This record gives sequence, structure tokens and C-alpha cells, in this order.
Amino acid sequence: MNLTQNTKRVRKPRRTVRRAFLLLFLGTFATLVQAQTLTSPDKNLTMQFELTGKGEPTYQLTYKKKPVIKQSKLGIATHDVPAFLEGFKVVNTQQNTLDETWKPFWGEESSIRNHYNELLVTLEQQEPKGRQIQLRFRLFNDGLGFRYEFPQQEQLNYFVIKEEHTEFNLTGDHKIFWIRGDYNTNEYAYTTSRISEIPNLIEKATHDVHAQFPIDTLSVQTPSMLKTADGLYINIHEAALVNYPAMHLNVDPKTFRFSSHLTPDAVGNKGYMQTETQTPWRTIVVSDKAADILASRLILNLNEPTKYEDVSWIRPMKYIGVWWEYFVSGKSTWAYSTETNVKLTDDFTKFTPNGRHGANNENVRRHIDFAAKHGFDAVLVEGWNIGWEDWFGNWKEEVFDFVTPYPDFDVKALNKYAHSKGVQLMMHHETSASATNYERRLDTAFQFMNKYGYDAVKTGYVGKIIPRGEQHDGQWMVNHYIHVANTAAKYKIMINSHEAVRPTGLHRTYPNWIAQESARGTEFEAMGGLAPDHTTILPFTRLMGGPMDYTPGIFQTDMSIYGGNQRVNTTLVKQLAYYVTMYSPLQMAADLPENYERFPDAFQFIKDVALDWDKTHILEAEPGDYITIARKAKGQNEWFVGGITDENARTATVDFSFLPKGKDYIATIYADAKDASWNKNPQKYTIRKVRVNAKSTLKQHLAPGGGVAVSIKEGDRSELRGLKKLK
Ligand code: NOJ
Ligand code: CA
Repeated sequence: MNLTQNTKRVRKPRRTVRRAFLLLFLGTFATLVQAQTLTSPDKNLTMQFELTGKGEPTYQLTYKKKPVIKQSKLGIATHDVPAFLEGFKVVNTQQNTLDETWKPFWGEESSIRNHYNELLVTLEQQEPKGRQIQLRFRLFNDGLGFRYEFPQQEQLNYFVIKEEHTEFNLTGDHKIFWIRGDYNTNEYAYTTSRISEIPNLIEKATHDVHAQFPIDTLSVQTPSMLKTADGLYINIHEAALVNYPAMHLNVDPKTFRFSSHLTPDAVGNKGYMQTETQTPWRTIVVSDKAADILASRLILNLNEPTKYEDVSWIRPMKYIGVWWEYFVSGKSTWAYSTETNVKLTDDFTKFTPNGRHGANNENVRRHIDFAAKHGFDAVLVEGWNIGWEDWFGNWKEEVFDFVTPYPDFDVKALNKYAHSKGVQLMMHHETSASATNYERRLDTAFQFMNKYGYDAVKTGYVGKIIPRGEQHDGQWMVNHYIHVANTAAKYKIMINSHEAVRPTGLHRTYPNWIAQESARGTEFEAMGGLAPDHTTILPFTRLMGGPMDYTPGIFQTDMSIYGGNQRVNTTLVKQLAYYVTMYSPLQMAADLPENYERFPDAFQFIKDVALDWDKTHILEAEPGDYITIARKAKGQNEWFVGGITDENARTATVDFSFLPKGKDYIATIYADAKDASWNKNPQKYTIRKVRVNAKSTLKQHLAPGGGVAVSIKEGDRSELRGLKKLK
């Protein structure tokens, strides 16, 4: 009896061991021909890779067991070699984990955790025999990134892409915040609808923008923000767009299948590849909390660390500009003269001044004085150089030379004057989209900047691209923008590009590319206005890829005082909140100096607000509705809160538990007045100081189209004692 039991006891585990061994074997076998599963470090996300019967690679993604992306195909169609679409078998798989923390030079956080599980699948085709590609999947707690990799091999050296066929097979008719696919512009207003409604709305969503090229298939741009009926937030974009065209998303409004649509070049091709190479990462950020989408650093994590050795010269900047006056009706002009047909070889000193040239010595000096008085780092001056008389619309190659000032702009004296007051002038290179001309003159232009002591340039690409037939979002231009950032670094120059391809986190690799526009910014408030919900959508879309030079800070929102009937569709306080909600290390105070002088107490917030952060706390967020963010200034015991709402009034809740415990601070609260709204009394606000600590909560009324801004700092005992405590 005893013996039998003993025997059993011994044998039972042995059987178990054998069964486990068998399972393990089957597992490996299944792996090679069929499916591979990858889970996120926190196990909330699961990605499954699988080949179809035809040997087509597919993936699917679930979040907390709910499907996010149903089985979706991966593949690339090519021109001159067999396609990478089917006939694959899995020849190797590899799983890795990484958990590291890195420090960006500037950003929303001073340290970022990069934590993922990775699956690398090596696929081989029979035709051509033995040709291999790899798919690399990285699954983070906040989403998935994957890309195609093409190892160098005898069977594969060069190829031309006809189309990438990456699918994002969505699970239903989700709500989507979208702008139309367009090869040339991302400056459209957002539409919020169901996926199935896109066909009916697409024409209405095609606003007039300079040099547009709306895609004729039904498509939307990325970052594409979606919300499912059961409350999942999904963001689709790309990371590390290098030497490849930008991706749009074709939309099937019936099956809710999205698929990649690359930007073509002048002859219709979609990418010239030489192995060893790879595509950008395709990114899917997912959460059941909208705040997590804004807190995601997945796109940055998928970009390469910088190769720059010295970054000490790169710094966040707050600037004003000779700029808004060009947009407020009739005030001044970029152009100097009354001529209408000019050439770079013309003698501009002989031209008749139009009497309204903005970039004149006196006006620039006035701006330098204002910047110095209020602690700004820089003054942007647009319209300083010859060529603006007919800069736009003629598809002309040589509009600007970037080195010849107009007769009334003394480049040497003005820079000297600015530097003597601790202020920089900010250069402006409008290229009028003639990238060829800009590339030819780039070194000379940067040497000119070095000579006079400029350390930052706003670039611009208004118009149809030259080389003619290329597009703003194509591979040629993608390489151009990076070439400009890279070349600028050699001259220790920072770049703020307008009308460039939307960002994909490349500021990690090129930290001197400190901001971009690449969306509908404040300038459109002067050209018909932005919807009050626009800036509650941008952080979920355009800003997923990187900081935006949104150019906030308009205090004189009713622009009829300049003539015309334009209006900025926000309250004054909402403009303050943007310095926190619209992340950028480059922030402009865009309004005219005289308008700030009329509201010195509100202007104080713009002067105080930090540009670089240790920590970011997304307190409340819902795309299209509201956003409340708190951030801790880098290296300082100061915090700033910004809250915004759409056209609806709301009560924002600011929970101060982000503050260190056990200490009181002084909070200055800038709030909309009770009867304020974006279209009535936009300039009515209140400012109050209260005592807060980590246990305090603020319930604050935001006006329709309004906001709230809070600055928090330490105070000595007597200062604190005089203040009412916020419960
Ligand atoms: C468009 C830019 O977005 C704007 O800021 C600039 O003033 C004009 N182009 C002229 O370069
Ligand atoms: Ca623009």
C-alpha cells in the first residue's frame, strides 16, 4: 500500500513533467508557423501576430481583453521587385524586454520611462527564394509600435514602394476627430463624427488652405484620435518619420478598416528604399482613460536618441514678434515697397516704400524694448528680407535669398541693440516652399545668422513645393526638413518649422528642432476663426507627435477694433491656459505689445509661466470637450495649471495632490468672470491669490470658450498668513 502510493507519488510528477514538455514543444512549433503573442509589461495589452493561409502577415490588438484592432494585414506593394504581401513563412521569432529611463534635454517630463516587451518576427518568402523581411513589434503599457525592417541580402538591395498596406481594422463605428487626408497641408479644421459619417462630411471638411492637395480616396490624417462606444480611446500615428513619406489613412466607412496611404512623389512613387533599412513605426496608443493618451510618451520612446554631442546651446524660449500686426486687418505688411514684380537682383533701395512695412528699425526697436522690459528671450521679425512683394502664388524658385535686409532694417545695429538688452532677434526664413532654393542657400543663410548672433529661425513652406510635383509630406521633403535641422545644429541654430510635415517625435533625435506648426494655429483666428473646441482636440492629434508653435496669448480677441469683423473665439483667460495645455518649449506671446500693456495683471501669467518641465499631470481630459493639466517647472518648486473648455461652460476640478505633502503654497488663480464667454465679455476675468496644499481641490467655473490658469509658488510665512485657504 505504502509502496504503491509512493510509486504513484513519484510517477505523477513525472507524467506532469512530460506533458509540460510536450506543450512547450507544441508551443514552439505553433510559434513558427502560426501565431505569436506578445503582452505589455502590465498585461493589459495583448498583440497577436499570425500568418494567414496565404502567408500574409497579420496582427491584432486587445486591451483588457477588449479588441482594439481586429486581425489586420501587413504588407508593402513594390514597383520593381516582387511585393512584400504574401507567401511568407516565419523562420525565426525573438522576444525581448527593455526597461530603461532616459532624460530628454527639454520636455514635459525630465525623465521618461521606456518599458516594453518586443517581438521580432523574421519572415521568409519562397518567391524570390529565401528573401527575408522582419517585423518588429514593441508593446508598451500605453500602446503598440511596429515597423517593417529590410535586412541587406543578396535578394534585396533596392526597391521602390508602390503602397504600404498596413491595416488598422477597427472594431466599430467609432467617434473620430479627423482632418482630411492631404499631401500638402495639415492646416484643416477638425471634424468630430462617426467613421461612417466621413463620406458625407468630407467636402465640408475641405477648407481653403494655401497649396492643398486633398487625397481623392476617402482618407484622414494622423494622428487620428478615436473613441469607441464603450469608452476606449485609440490614437493612431507614426514615430520616427525618416527617409519615407508621411502616412495617411484610407477609410472604409462600412467595415471601419483603415489602411495606410503614403504620400507620393512627383512621379507617383511612394518611397525609394535601399537595404538595410526600415519604415517608420506605426503607433497605436490605447487606454480607457483619455488622460493616458496625453500622458503617453510612446512616440518619443520609439525615436532614436540624439547623436548631437553638444546640446548645451539648445534652450527653451519665450518670444514676442513683429508678426500679429500682419494679420490684424490693414495694420502693416511683410513687403517694403509698392512694387508687384520683383527679383532678387533688383535694387530695393530704389523702390517706393509702401509706408506700412512692419520690420522697420523703429518698430523692431520698440519690440526689443518691450521684450527686455518683460523678460522675453527673443523677438521674431518677419518681413525683414527682400522678396515679399510677390512671394506667394507664382511657384517661383528664387523668391528669397535669406541674407539681404530691406533698406529700413539695419540687421547689424538691431542685433547689437537686442544683445545689449539681453534679447535675441529670431530669424525668419520663409522659403515660399522652394526647398531647392533654400537648400542651395542654407549654409550661407546660417553663416549670416551666426555672424549677427541669431540662434533660432522660424522656417516656413507656404505654397506649392519646388522641386515641382513634390509634396510637403513626401519622402523628398521629409528628408529636406531633417537636413535643415541637422545642418542648423552644425551652426548651433534652433528650428521652428511652419507648414512642414506633422511631427513624429523626431525632436528626441534632433532636439534643436524645438517646435513646429503643422496644424491650424492662431493665425486662423484672423482668417475666419477657430472653433472653440479646436484646442481641446489638438493635444490628442497634432501634439501627439511633438510640440506646436501655436502662438497663443491673444488678449484683444475682438479684432473689429482694427477694422473688419474678425474674432478670436476664446476668452482672454483661455489664451493664458494654452501656455500649459499646448505644450511647447518655444512659446510666443503673439499679441501686440500695446494689448499686453492694457492688461498687465493677466500678462503676468505669460511672463511667469515656465517652458520646461519636471513632471506633467493630466488632471482631466476629454477630446473635443476639455483639458486640465498641471506641470511642475523644471528644477523649481513652481507649478502651473491650465484648464480649457470648448463652447460649453464647465466646472474644472483641480486636485492639488500633485503638490508635495505637508506644505502650503501660494496659488494665483486667473479665471473667467461669471458673465464672460468667448463671444461676450471675453476680456472679463478675475485674479485671486489663495493658500493651497496637497489636500486642496479647486472647483472653477470656466466660461463658454473659456479657461483657467493657475500659478503656484512657495511663499514665506507672512505672505501665506495673509491668504485665504482653499479647501
Ligand atoms: C505662415 C506661417 O504660419 C505664419 O506664421 C507666417 O507669418 C507666414 N506663413 C509668412 O511666412
Ligand atoms: Ca501656417
